[in-house]
Amino acid sequence: MKKNKNLKVSIVMGSQSDYKTMKLGVKILKNMGIKLETKIISAHRTPARMYDFASSAEKKGIGVIIAGAGGSAHLPGMISALTSVPVLGVPIESKKLKGLDSLLSIAQMPKGIPVGTLAIGEDGAINAALLAASIIANNNPIVKKKLNSWRLSQTRSVKKNPK
Ligand code: RP5
Repeated sequence: MKKNKNLKVSIVMGSQSDYKTMKLGVKILKNMGIKLETKIISAHRTPARMYDFASSAEKKGIGVIIAGAGGSAHLPGMISALTSVPVLGVPIESKKLKGLDSLLSIAQMPKGIPVGTLAIGEDGAINAALLAASIIANNNPIVKKKLNSWRLSQTRSVKKNPK
């Protein structure tokens, strides 16, 4: 198979209500010039959409899938069950249990079907995007350069002394 050096990141989420969290990752990937798409896909409410998406992800040139879901968050795990494209899960902060339910649902995958699980909420959405950029950067020197300069500017922004 020919190596695709310009793989896309797909950010999917269980509901429109997840977008306020997931859009932080969209911003990061756009700044790094990474091709991306965003979709609402629910494991529970739109299972056929989830199946179609996951089973065709690889042939559509998707290199990483970031899946955000809240509550009984089955989306990242079910997508991973249907594709070998790497899946990063973002536990959305749920109203009732503050996202602990989402975190445990996403992290406690049975062996054989992995999901890289990030932190609950905004930190998780941001780190999922940075991790996706690192994966894409393995085959894309332009993204590698942008990611490294993003990291350098973060390092430089940390003051030596508190005021
Ligand atoms: C999950 O249920 C979604 O990922 C969302 O975090 C949660 C609540 O969804 P809404 O009721 O706001 O649509 O499937």
